[in-house]
Amino acid sequence: MLRKKLTDISNKDVVIAPSLLAADFTSLKSEIEQTKRAGVEVLHIDVMDGHFVPNISMGVPVLQCIRPITDQIFDVHLMISHPLKYISSFVRAGADHITFHIESEDNAEQVINEIRKYSITVGMSLKPGTDLEALLPYLGQIDMILIMTVEPGFGGQSFMANMMPKVRLLREEISKSGSNVHIEVDGGIDHKTVSTVVKGGANVLVAGTSVFKYCDGIEKAVLALKKNAS
Ligand code: DX5
Ligand code: ZN
Repeated sequence: MLRKKLTDISNKDVVIAPSLLAADFTSLKSEIEQTKRAGVEVLHIDVMDGHFVPNISMGVPVLQCIRPITDQIFDVHLMISHPLKYISSFVRAGADHITFHIESEDNAEQVINEIRKYSITVGMSLKPGTDLEALLPYLGQIDMILIMTVEPGFGGQSFMANMMPKVRLLREEISKSGSNVHIEVDGGIDHKTVSTVVKGGANVLVAGTSVFKYCDGIEKAVLALKKNAS
């Protein structure tokens, strides 16, 4: 059976995308199964190269390992300096969606074309210090914009409320164009901040710490986020 795609989901639907970075890697299979039981359709996978960001996380071997155990959409967030070189490897390992950073060192048009070559969806992201205007010219060519609400590199940081004007402006632009581009936010999303981002117009909500380290377990964490988002 064909896996669901990001384009099958409306950008008016709120989606919780747990970030595996905060999972217990000794029990990855069980943690993923718990997200499935909570109805999670999108898993966020953070890839860091120790160069674009000052941290190294997971890569192709982890995707290969977990691809056979779930049909969830793999939303791969590349925090790497040279995305172009690695796209084919991530696609072969099972990526359904790839987001790269506008601040990376590769040519954005080339990266978009390379991702499109494999018929998967494309996302572009911007760090807190980058203006939304840098991404707007690409709006017609991509499926999702990821607005970072922390400095990329680490989980467990505090939500930057001053990123909300970007979210609101982007929602206005997307509504004007009538397109189905998704607005993803990433960093510090928890049971308190979730309502702010949804009200601002974000619909794909990455949550690491608040899902995998939640006191009552993963399933309840996802349900609580969904409840507070509405
Ligand atoms: C940060 C990553 C995030 C991170 C979010 O660079 O892109 O996806 O895992 O973690 P929390 O939800 O703990 O802020
Ligand atoms: Zn991320």
